[in-house]
Amino acid sequence: MKNNLLNPYVKGLSDCARSELHLDAKVKKTPSVEPDVGMFLEFFTRSMKPTSILELGCGIGVSSRYMSAGAPNAQVTAVDYNKSRLEFASESCKDNKQINFVLSDVIKFVREDKSTYDLIFIDSMKKQYPIVLYYALKRLNDGGVIIFDDVFMYGDIFKQDCELPRKYLPVVLVLREFINNIKQNYTHTLLPIGSGVLMVSK
Ligand SMILES: C[S@@+](CC[C@H](N)C(=O)[O-])C[C@H]1O[C@@H](n2cnc3c(N)ncnc32)[C@H](O)[C@@H]1O
Repeated sequence: MKNNLLNPYVKGLSDCARSELHLDAKVKKTPSVEPDVGMFLEFFTRSMKPTSILELGCGIGVSSRYMSAGAPNAQVTAVDYNKSRLEFASESCKDNKQINFVLSDVIKFVREDKSTYDLIFIDSMKKQYPIVLYYALKRLNDGGVIIFDDVFMYGDIFKQDCELPRKYLPVVLVLREFINNIKQNYTHTLLPIGSGVLMVSK
C-alpha cells in the first residue's frame, strides 16, 4: 500500500512533511518513515506530550526528528545497529540536544535498559516485532503508548500466500499472527497510513 499524499483531489496534504528529512533519506538511500507517518508522529507527540521517547530502529533519524519536533520537552533515545546510519543521524542532529543516538541491537538494548518511557516507536526488523513488544511493554510507563510502523508490509499481509515472493512469506506470517494477537489481547488501534501503523496502549 502506497500512501496517497499525491492524490490530486487532496491537494496540499503533505505540506507539513519535513521534505529536507526525506531528501536526506533519498540521498543516503536508506529506508525511512513515509511522510504521512512522519507528520502523524509529529502531530501525536505534540498532543501526547511525552517526556521520554524510545525509538527502536531509528535509521538516519527521520522519525526521531519528527518526534523531537512534536515534543520539544522530550528526551529521545534512538537505537540502531547500523553504524554508518547512526553516524549520519548524529551528524545531522548535532545541534539537537534532545536526541541521544545509541549504537546497539534493539533486542539487546530493550532487554538490558533500565529506563522507562512514555512513548516507544518501533521500526526495526518486522520479524522481531513480537519479541520486541514483549520487552518494550516492560519499559513502558503506565498510560504509555507503543507504535509499530509498517505492519501491513506495503499491503503484502493482505495478499494470498501464492501471490507473494517466497522470501516474504515468513515475515508476512509473523506479522499476521502478531496483529491478531494484539487485536485479541491489547488495547490498540490500526491506522492505514504509510505502510500500516499499529498503536498499543498500556
Ligand atoms: C525502516 S529503517 C528505520 C527508519 C527510521 N524510522 C526513519 O524514519 O529514519 C529500519 C532500521 O532498523 C534497523 N534495525 C533493524 N533491526 C534491528 C535490530 N535488531 N537492532 C538494531 N537496529 C535494527 C536497521 O538498521 C534500519 O536502520
